[in-house]
Formats: sequence, C-alpha cells, structure tokens
Amino acid sequence: MRRALVAGNWKMNGRVAQNDELVTTVLAGLEQQALTERVDVMVFPPSIYITQVEAAVRESDLSVGAQNLCEFGDGAYTGELSAGMLADVGCSAVLIGHSERRAMFGDREQRVAAKVKAALSAGLTPVLCLGESLEQRDAGETLAVVSGQFRSAVAGLELSEIVQLVLAYEPVWAIGTGRTATPEQAQEVHAHLRVLLAEQGQNVADVVRVLYGGSVNADNAAALFAQQDIDGGLIGGASLKAKDFLAICHAA
Ligand code: G3P
Repeated sequence: MRRALVAGNWKMNGRVAQNDELVTTVLAGLEQQALTERVDVMVFPPSIYITQVEAAVRESDLSVGAQNLCEFGDGAYTGELSAGMLADVGCSAVLIGHSERRAMFGDREQRVAAKVKAALSAGLTPVLCLGESLEQRDAGETLAVVSGQFRSAVAGLELSEIVQLVLAYEPVWAIGTGRTATPEQAQEVHAHLRVLLAEQGQNVADVVRVLYGGSVNADNAAALFAQQDIDGGLIGGASLKAKDFLAICHAA
C-alpha cells in the first residue's frame, strides 16, 4: 500500500527568521505526534532558502525539495538552477509543471517533460503537477486535459522511471481560491490518473502516489485524504502556518 505524503509548497514566501520558526515548530509537532511513522512529509521552500531549510531538517524525517529546476545541465544559463545543483544541496524532490509555472513562466508540455527527465537523471523525485482551468472543467474537458498533461510528461520515460514519479492533481480553479474541489470531484480525477498509470505497466498504479492540491486546509483534509485514490496533499497557503500544516499531516 502507498504511504501517505504531505508536501508543503511555500511558493514565493519566507524570510530567514520566519523560515526558522516555521520549520522548528513543524519538526517539533511531527516528532511529538510521531507523524512521520506513517506519513512522508516534504517542504518546498523558495530556492534561495533551500540550504537553510535543508540544514534544519537534515537529522529529521522531514525532506526538502525545490519548486522548479532548469531542464539543462550546468552551463551558460544565467539565473537558472540545474537538477545536479538541487541534489548537491540535499533536495530529494522537485515540483514540475505547477500551474503557476505553466501559466506565467512558459513551462509548456515539452519543457515539463524535459524537466522530469532532468530531475530523474539527478536522482530527484519529480512531483508532476497536473490540472485543468475552470473553463476547461466547465467545458467537460477535465479528464482530457490531465490525460494530455500526463501522457506528454511520461512519453519518453522507461517504466523504471515512471514508478519514481509523484503526481499532484491541482485544479487551477482551486489553487489559492479557498474553493476546494469536493472529495468526489478530486476522487474522479485521481481514479482516472490511476487508470492512466495502470496503462503504463504492471504495479505502476499501485506504487505511484497521487496528491491533491488546491485550497487544502485543516478542516477539509481528512475528507479528501479518505478518498481511495488520494494519497496525500500538495499544500500551498496552509503550509506556511505550522499548526495548519501539522493538522493536515495528521489527517493524512
Ligand atoms: O502547489 C500547491 C498549491 O498550488 C496549492 O495552493 O494555497 O490552494 O493550498 P493552496
């Protein structure tokens, strides 16, 4: 059976002192409640704070990841960060294809696929983000959209690579809006992603974790995580508040 996973995407938030307080409180809560005995927990700080957070979590079960990476290896790519650099500073995972990057920073399908490949080549777990817009949902295109995003991201991968993925279904209309997908709405897409995973090969659907993201909070997490094909959450705003993030981890 798949272990639950709760990941906190801090987005472009934080300062050194604030990060210290948040991580210290989360670590204390995880230990006090022995949550990491049954839940994998990750935090994804802004890249400039990765080394600070990695040093703080190094002796714990809390893992650190990056919110983005460059699809190219080291070289003349001013301002970018390679997968090798992220692994070098202790990242274990990296978010890829987040809707904010797809919408504002040019992460289209081909680039998403290249970033997945680059992450795998450096031993990083790709957290592949998928999701539809409100217009696409209203047009009944949700399953087609996430199918296309999934298929283009895994097209060039071996089975041994696909089983290393984590998927995150994040309906764009639920991100940062407080308008969370209902457990039934989320389960429908997660079940569909499970079918797509099963098409890739034996046991893939049993192994790959599929997270839900989009206005998860302490009050709605349990109902979402109770769904058969929801293996945890990718948490935005609520991951910046230790109490809320711990409550969500407890619900997983
Ligand atoms: O990556 C997680 C994020 O997109 C969800 O944000 O604030 O709706 O939990 P939020």
